[in-house]
Amino acid sequence: MDEQQAKERIDKLRDLLDEYGHHYYVLDAPKVSDAEYDQLMQELIRLENEYPQFQSENSPTVRVGGEPLDRFVKVQHRRPMLSLGNAFNAQDLRDFDRRAREGATGPISYTAELKIDGLAVSLTYENGQFVRGATRGDGQTGEDITVNLKTVGSIPLRLKEAVDLEVRGEVFMPHHSFEQLNKVKEENEEPPFANPRNAAAGSLRQLDPKIAGRRNLDIFCYAIAEDQEIGLTSHAKALGYMKELGLKVNPDHKYCNNIEEVIEYVESWLEKRHDLPYEIDGIVIKVDELDEQQTLGYTAKSPRWAIAYKFPAEEVITTLRDIKLTVGRTGAITPTAYLDPVQVAGTTVQRASLHNEDLIREKDTRIGDQVVIKKAGDIIPEVVRVLDDLRTGDEEEFTMPTHCPECESELVRLEGEVILRCVNPKCPAQVREGLIHFVSRTAMNIDGLGEKVIQQLFSHELIQDVSDLYKLKREDLLELERMGEKSVSNLLEAIEASKDNPLDRLLFGLGIRFVGSKAARLLAETFGTMEKLQEATMEDLVAIHEVGEKMADSITSYFSQPEAEELIGELRQLGLNMTYEIATPEASEAEQIFAEQTVVLTGKLEKWTRTEMKEKVEALGGKVTGSVSTKTDLLIAGEDAGSKLEKAEELGVEVWDEARFELEVK
Ligand code: IVH
Repeated sequence: MDEQQAKERIDKLRDLLDEYGHHYYVLDAPKVSDAEYDQLMQELIRLENEYPQFQSENSPTVRVGGEPLDRFVKVQHRRPMLSLGNAFNAQDLRDFDRRAREGATGPISYTAELKIDGLAVSLTYENGQFVRGATRGDGQTGEDITVNLKTVGSIPLRLKEAVDLEVRGEVFMPHHSFEQLNKVKEENEEPPFANPRNAAAGSLRQLDPKIAGRRNLDIFCYAIAEDQEIGLTSHAKALGYMKELGLKVNPDHKYCNNIEEVIEYVESWLEKRHDLPYEIDGIVIKVDELDEQQTLGYTAKSPRWAIAYKFPAEEVITTLRDIKLTVGRTGAITPTAYLDPVQVAGTTVQRASLHNEDLIREKDTRIGDQVVIKKAGDIIPEVVRVLDDLRTGDEEEFTMPTHCPECESELVRLEGEVILRCVNPKCPAQVREGLIHFVSRTAMNIDGLGEKVIQQLFSHELIQDVSDLYKLKREDLLELERMGEKSVSNLLEAIEASKDNPLDRLLFGLGIRFVGSKAARLLAETFGTMEKLQEATMEDLVAIHEVGEKMADSITSYFSQPEAEELIGELRQLGLNMTYEIATPEASEAEQIFAEQTVVLTGKLEKWTRTEMKEKVEALGGKVTGSVSTKTDLLIAGEDAGSKLEKAEELGVEVWDEARFELEVK
């Protein structure tokens, strides 16, 4: 076989395997036997090995999963991935309908769809090729999980038309795959996944795509981000178009002329949902007319043209074994019920919040009681009521302590509050919780610094306040349990990278009372720098529409503390960014200096880590690949660059050193 024939055969095999894959995974109607499919796949793998010049990133052979990653790169969504408002009954749906009709300019109808309980992802196609897949993350920034998503058989690597699109969908794990996976876990004496959603999320978070590849994940696509721009007029048509493109769309959606038809659809699924081979947690209702969707627009959090109906929470009975207290980051003392493990709405529940002392009294909750548990919003377990008829007399009444369980200072009940508080600002529990908050995803978003690591760092006295995070040394970290070279390097890199976070994340992370992430963004936008905010007076603050007296008061008192001033000064010295820049679309476009370029990095770098540089190039529009070829546009070479540099020079590829890179990206 000569090169030309090999190329033709490879193309043919790819077309066939894509076609068979589509029938198998998307249409659930296999066209050939598994053996036949495998045989063709083996032939393709062999040819690609023999003729590496024809390797392609979207060949069906990538389905088995490529090389493991170091970590996931963050990606900014072109359009935010929002969540939906909730409806719990027919009345909520009718209210939603009334608001939608009032806001619309003409008559509206709806599309109702199953709300798949999995993980939202965005799939970017360029020229019909799957180029990037990302998690939802915080809605603005997600993680690039392309390599894992490529292993999901029902995600087409090539669409049937050469279009540029961003598709949104839900990746999930069907029940049978979930059960199979947990059986294997059990056999290996590993802890099982609590529910299919966690299993799906856990699989997509694996750095080794081969693992995701074995997990039998599936997807339903439910939206095209640029639906109107490409000439679609209704959501139902968007669903139809996605199907035409080869994307997997849930077959059980229904076009409804009015809200009563929607309610009928919702009711029809109350029982039927248990017969589906996958988990759904509700029904999503969307205004079908895309121009009316646009008219209705969005609130800060969610679209006004869609709502999620949530199925009623399941209630179950179990025994309350103990009540323990936890101290939150603001010193709030919360009693938690420890329960006999019980399945509620798909997960095993062992703990439930009892909220506060008053509620314990009100429900007369005693240790040893039989209690009814449900999950609020199907997520947070809580004790609904006590079954006092079932008491044996051995139950124990619970009394709240007078002193903090962590630091033993006296607890106080502030005026107008129902909760008890520890008001010792040095209380270790509060400090620890504050640190956990600081590094969390919605605050500084430091990967690899979960609750457990913070606990460890704290108990080893390596950190006392947030500034200590930026002074951590490699050798200290290496002494911690379960911390190898690699995780330490990743952690230090993530900490370093967090210094560049915009001001709003830092502000939110500081944990100033009543300043949530939204308020933090508003403050950052208004004042632009930490300094200006530190100088802001009560009047300056309340002049902002969304800031009330209570928040303004909390902000000014926070900044008037000498400890706060000292901490901020220290963070500034450590190099944390204290400014907020509003990105204008023109600016960011102009800055895409690596747009459409394929860049290779090599050699030892001084100021940048490889990952940082890769992220930067990607943020500026470039694509980073591993080896130099005729497709390479630029090589960035550090010290001792070696063979890649030679190859680049041979091919006449442009070469920059680190200093030039610095200069260009500044
Ligand atoms: S539409 C802006 N349709 O539910 C509207 N979402 O809270 C975007 N979900 O994050 C959502 N099935 O992960 C939509 N058929 C469906 C869905 C669906 C599941 C998830 C999605 C989203 C969440 C909404």
